[in-house]
Amino acid sequence: MKIVLLNGPNLNLLGDREPEIYGATTLADIERRLTEQARAEGAELDCFQTNHEGEAIDRIHAARRVADAIIINPAAWTHTSIALLDALNAFEGTVVEVHLSNVHKRESFRHHSYVSLRADGVIAGLGGHGYRAALDFVLRRGGGAS
Ligand code: DQA
Repeated sequence: MKIVLLNGPNLNLLGDREPEIYGATTLADIERRLTEQARAEGAELDCFQTNHEGEAIDRIHAARRVADAIIINPAAWTHTSIALLDALNAFEGTVVEVHLSNVHKRESFRHHSYVSLRADGVIAGLGGHGYRAALDFVLRRGGGAS
């Protein structure tokens, strides 16, 4: 089973950026733990972070017919990007949307998600644990067309 972990803009600053909202764990830590979790279950995890929307879209295109699932924290693109939604709509596997913070408890502009129109599941507010929960779900569900 192949799974892509895709993190969007500013998430490279995790652990350093607004730790009171996003926690003290770095993205490298999250990626390492998730990679180990996937490997222990016989799955392959490909981690990718970008601050460039086109690169995120290209990564989703590359996952088509190759990956079984995408776990995505689209960060601010969640609330703005129809292009990202369209790319995910062209992906046939499982999509799980993850947010470290509870976006519904925050500013109203964070309450709407374009990505949720495609996601099979949405996790928000569990901090770094949300990624583990997403991976757990994907491993048990087995990926595939939604
Ligand atoms: C975020 C929430 C978004 O609203 C924000 O723009 C982010 C991170 C989260 O993980 O809580 O950059 O996706």
